[in-house]
Amino acid sequence: MKSISIGLLGLGTVGTGVVQIIKNHQDKLMHQVGCPVEIKKILVQNVHKKRPVEIDPKILTSSADEILLDQDIDVIIEVMGGIDATKDYLITALRQGKHVVTANKDLMALHGSELLTVASEYGCDLFYEASVGGGIPILRGLVDGLASDRITQMMGIVNGTTNYILTKMSNEGRSYDEVLKEAQDLGFAEADPTSDVEGLDAARKMTILATLGFSMHIDLDDVQVKGISNVTEEDIRYGKKLGYTMKLIGYAHREGEKVEVSVAPTFLSNNHPLASVQNEYNAVYVYGEAVGETMFYGPGAGSLPTASAVVSDLVAVIKNLRIDVNGKSAVTPQYPKQLKEDSE
Ligand code: NDP
Ligand code: HSE
Repeated sequence: MKSISIGLLGLGTVGTGVVQIIKNHQDKLMHQVGCPVEIKKILVQNVHKKRPVEIDPKILTSSADEILLDQDIDVIIEVMGGIDATKDYLITALRQGKHVVTANKDLMALHGSELLTVASEYGCDLFYEASVGGGIPILRGLVDGLASDRITQMMGIVNGTTNYILTKMSNEGRSYDEVLKEAQDLGFAEADPTSDVEGLDAARKMTILATLGFSMHIDLDDVQVKGISNVTEEDIRYGKKLGYTMKLIGYAHREGEKVEVSVAPTFLSNNHPLASVQNEYNAVYVYGEAVGETMFYGPGAGSLPTASAVVSDLVAVIKNLRIDVNGKSAVTPQYPKQLKEDSE
């Protein structure tokens, strides 16, 4: 039985999680897509670095072409980060007819429209669920789950690092610098954490959410952004005394054709549901004209949660390939086998 071959770009926090899920969930993946899934090659900067997962060193490479031009690779998973060079890699991959899954919000917020156009020209899928909300399936929720509705407003916490910092400063009275370092060590922060703490990462995610939710092009430059780097321990203490919790809040509102998107540190009353979202968790309220208020909640950063969204995109890509590797008709997802207790 032919397996689906993956080229993985990046083996850091998220890439390691992707390797673990593909290895440990083979049964589930096989059940979902009807064939084995195999990582054929992995792009890294340093092929000699010690890795936290067991990897055959022969599949590591520092040559992107070795992966992008390999005719046997069906799907590229991009979890290396970066913008310009990464964009070129993904365009090369799509032009080679390879489907792409990415967790890269920087790239999607800036060049998503161009990349999606290239993908469509070459008949390829380009999925990016992990780019917003880590492990929360919020993009599918917006695009599929709320497909019939008219979204008017979205509001929430979309950056795990800053929520981790604000939570620890507030609950444990710890210093900004100490907790930022901890968020970096835990793999939540970006390679350059400036984009987290200055609100740019959240702004990029709100751009993606607003573009999908409102079905209109939203320019990152039009988002008003303020981060948490100037928030002091004193600000948090005073707020707390008065019954308020500080959160970095992303907000997107549409009225007719007018759209407003912003990111700013905000004092929320302690009984506001977003005030109780702790650590690296994210939560987003989405208001639809028909559905009313819905809330998406879950781990917004971290290795396995983010990889869960990435590998779920991979499953969607493979299902869309609509090929039966045995040469029969389309792959049909099977219902799970009945549990023993159920059949008794
Ligand atoms: P890391 O910094 O942990 O890992 C990056 C990986 O990519 C490393 O393996 C690195 O190689 C490799 N890499 C980076 N640049 C190059 C290059 N120019 N050529 C070859 N290899 C390269 O990043 P993360 O895993 O944290 O993040 C990856 C992506 O996922 C980013 O776009 C990020 O924004 C996004 N993301 C991250 C989340 C998280 O919780 N961390 C959550 C959601 C999205 P080497 O190991 O040799 O240094
Ligand atoms: N640095 C990001 C965050 C990773 O902290 O939310 C998840 O996108």
